[in-house]
Amino acid sequence: MSGIGDLDALAPEKSRLAADLEELASFTDPDEAGWTRRVFSEPYRASRAWVRARMRDAGLAVREDDAGNLIGLLPGTTGAPALVTGSHTDTVSRGGRFDGVVGVLGAIEVARRLRETGTRLAHDLLVVDFLGEEPNAHGVSCIGSRTIAGLLSSGYLDQLDGHGVPLGRALESAGRSPSDMLRAAWRPGEIAAFVELHIEQGPVLQRRQTDIGVVTAIAGIERVMAAFTGRADHAGTMPMTDRRDALAAAAQAILAVEQIGCSQPDAVATVGDLETAPGALNVVPESARVWAELRSPSAAWLGTARRRVVQDIADLAQVRGVDVELDWLNDQDPVPTTVGVQDVIAAASQSLGRRWTPIVSGAGHDAAHMAALAPMGMIFVPSRDGRSHCPEEWTDLDQIGAGVHALAATVASLDGNPHVGALAT
Ligand code: HGY
Ligand code: MN
Ligand code: MN
Repeated sequence: MSGIGDLDALAPEKSRLAADLEELASFTDPDEAGWTRRVFSEPYRASRAWVRARMRDAGLAVREDDAGNLIGLLPGTTGAPALVTGSHTDTVSRGGRFDGVVGVLGAIEVARRLRETGTRLAHDLLVVDFLGEEPNAHGVSCIGSRTIAGLLSSGYLDQLDGHGVPLGRALESAGRSPSDMLRAAWRPGEIAAFVELHIEQGPVLQRRQTDIGVVTAIAGIERVMAAFTGRADHAGTMPMTDRRDALAAAAQAILAVEQIGCSQPDAVATVGDLETAPGALNVVPESARVWAELRSPSAAWLGTARRRVVQDIADLAQVRGVDVELDWLNDQDPVPTTVGVQDVIAAASQSLGRRWTPIVSGAGHDAAHMAALAPMGMIFVPSRDGRSHCPEEWTDLDQIGAGVHALAATVASLDGNPHVGALAT
């Protein structure tokens, strides 16, 4: 079977997809609201055994690479560099059941439909469940894709969690070899192209009443921890003018970060966590820490915003007589998707009679790292009311089905292009 005309046959079996979504959603921390499958947790370990079995049942040859990625292979007819598609199945705490999951289960369904329709691709097809896409307790995201893209450095492995444990040690405890991971990079050219199906996690597709988003760029993410050190004093006797209140400084910093995020339409800035000590009502806070992130598709804006964060926080701390230290971590640089792959996704969606719209991703994705290896593209499906990273996260089955069908059509079309690896960025 070949050619665009047979694309209807590649439509997903939606009831099977729904059953898979339901079953994967059953793996979650029972003590948390929503869905919680954190990267080093038992629910995640158990869920990956299930994903591996689903890949195998779909007829894929499954292996786990040194980076901890589950990789299912559907052999092609020519041995040409593989087409790769996939996403992640770990979640944030109290998150949703579609983030990442749609791209992994959708890719498995594409592989099933190719086999069931007797569609033999020229290229090998790799279906991937990347390890640990969500930022873990060490603040590092996209462990599996960062590793195979050759972007995992010892600096990331040294990142400490709240108990002072480095990421490398946590990976060892989870059965991984950090030294092997540092050697697990794939070579550029080893794969022909990467396409990821994902929920939008924002409100744009719903507002535009459009089923398919063709992602044009993925925002860069800079993360920072600000540690404020003031002085503990009696809350009843120390005059307001003589205090060195670390928590008040942190509170002012939170609002300063928010202001910076409001300075540019496609930029955001968020403080997601705060801690303070000694945490007593009758003691002026001696220390406080906040964790913040800046996001934008513009590297220039990120650079300017980072400098503004440094200056604004230094100024407010000085006025309060509070010391402050900033610890930055580059999560990912802004990355454009490959125009040639965008065009294939748009044409494939059009051939299925689906309206599509170009869209920038404010969310980070494994695709941002896979762009280091090959031409990269992303397909978005709508998120109801733009909600995500919360139990209310929802995408209709028909919308997911349309995204999976567009993914199948995109893979078939990329496969028909003997020069897919040379698609222009
Ligand atoms: O944070 C993100 O954008 C992604 O969900 N990891
Ligand atoms: Mn996420
Ligand atoms: Mn995701």
